[in-house]
Amino acid sequence: MTALTLSTAGAATLRADAVVVGVAKGAKGPVIAPGAEAVDTAFDGKLASVLDTLGASGAEGEAIKLPSPAGLKAPVVLAVGLGAAPEKGEAYGAEALRRAAGTAARTLSGAKKAAFALPIGSPEDAAAVAEGALLGAYAFTAYQSGDSAKGPLAEVALLGAKPRDKAYKAVAERAVALAEEINRARDLINTPPNDLTPEAFAAVASAAGKEHGIKVQILDEKALVKGGFGGILGVGQGSANPPRLVKLSYTHGKNAKHLALVGKGITYDSGGISLKPAGHNETMKCDMSGAAAVFAAVVAAARLGLPVNVTGWLALAENMPSGSATRPGDVLRMYSGKTVEVLNTDAEGRLVLGDALWKASEEKPDAIVDVATLTGAMVLALGNRTFGVMANDDAFRTAVHETAEEVGEQSWPMPLPAELRKGMDSPTADIANMGERMGSGLVAGLFLQEFVGEGITWAHLDIAGPAFHEGAPYGYTPKGGTGSSVRTLVRLAERMGEGDLG
Ligand code: BES
Ligand code: MN
Ligand code: ZN
Repeated sequence: MTALTLSTAGAATLRADAVVVGVAKGAKGPVIAPGAEAVDTAFDGKLASVLDTLGASGAEGEAIKLPSPAGLKAPVVLAVGLGAAPEKGEAYGAEALRRAAGTAARTLSGAKKAAFALPIGSPEDAAAVAEGALLGAYAFTAYQSGDSAKGPLAEVALLGAKPRDKAYKAVAERAVALAEEINRARDLINTPPNDLTPEAFAAVASAAGKEHGIKVQILDEKALVKGGFGGILGVGQGSANPPRLVKLSYTHGKNAKHLALVGKGITYDSGGISLKPAGHNETMKCDMSGAAAVFAAVVAAARLGLPVNVTGWLALAENMPSGSATRPGDVLRMYSGKTVEVLNTDAEGRLVLGDALWKASEEKPDAIVDVATLTGAMVLALGNRTFGVMANDDAFRTAVHETAEEVGEQSWPMPLPAELRKGMDSPTADIANMGERMGSGLVAGLFLQEFVGEGITWAHLDIAGPAFHEGAPYGYTPKGGTGSSVRTLVRLAERMGEGDLG
């Protein structure tokens, strides 16, 4: 991955392919953000007016390349928009910095080294620029041959971040671990489903566990039968690629708090016998994004040595139609003992998650957070960039939403209206896997709630919207897998470790 270095060099003197400066929207046109003074000087103090002439306004997403004048070591200046300039004395917002840095790194893909002379006045600013740059530099090229693939920007040199200052070193290390794990989640999501089968995903988890001191236990199809995991088996039985339940345990110590994370890992969702129509299945390799996020978050927690125990559960299966597939009308006996009448095999996420949630509950963690690309309804409700947060505890739902906001992930609290439960009443089994169409994202949440152990604080993140980005890249968000929710999960683990949660 892209390397991150902290440099004491000036923006004019560092040897690099390009120097990145920030430009913000001022009251009377573009203004150059702090950090770029030396670059502006090389332009005789006229960089803002040059950019104005070139049509720049400082709006978010803008990226303008200029050949450097004499006096700058880097041959190219890249000006990226920061959005509205902050009030006098105020700092730039973390998300504005993250996005501008991401845009810069994306624009410079293929380059060797870029000096980032963005406004960094604190370790928090440095963290945001580092995260944005490392996430923006992402490229998924594993399946492109030869020269058609342009690799990511190879090195990001942060100017203005003090390399010998402990606080700056710490945020840089955290940003690298976090970004590498988010990019690992993105790789998994982008890997085509013929290669990323449940077994292959489990093998990746196993290898990462060895590397980072995380205990990994894998239940294969035989173990799942023995254990009575009817939900996971029912979803996976139509596929030639059998299901897995993977447990990742990062243990800090006996007395630490315990956060359990559960991820939906449908490596491909065809819908099963309730087959999805063409137009709805082309991106369904992304249906394991929840498991990828959970996996990445556990590894990040281990790499950062967070003072909390984190268990990750990956519920992995491929949802395919075949002669052995679950039929609409079949009844499954879940790991909890509850029976479920499967009315629609395309509502499979709740079946694999039900088993994993009940299993996770047995350890009585201080809190459980599940992450899933669960419903199209959540996408209709909240759009492509915002995930829904449901919970069995108002304070915890608020804490998760606020944590997401703190790390720059868009989320919104959603209710679990009790009256929607009766729509899942089944004449045959304890519950059906489908209910009313109206509010079906919340219906899915209510279904999951039935598989959370008594008295355990639980939140459910429906990331169906933001998990996979089909539009043009923006900021630090690439096309394809985004790594949605990883930053929120890691920050939640940190907060629990700080005694600030649960
Ligand atoms: N994986 C889908 C949900 C999804 C939709 C994820 C769009 C990402 C983008 C899920 O398994 C599904 O098919 N849900 C159904 C449930 C319905 C049958 C009750 C849905 O949302 O239509
Ligand atoms: Mn489905
Ligand atoms: Zn699905």
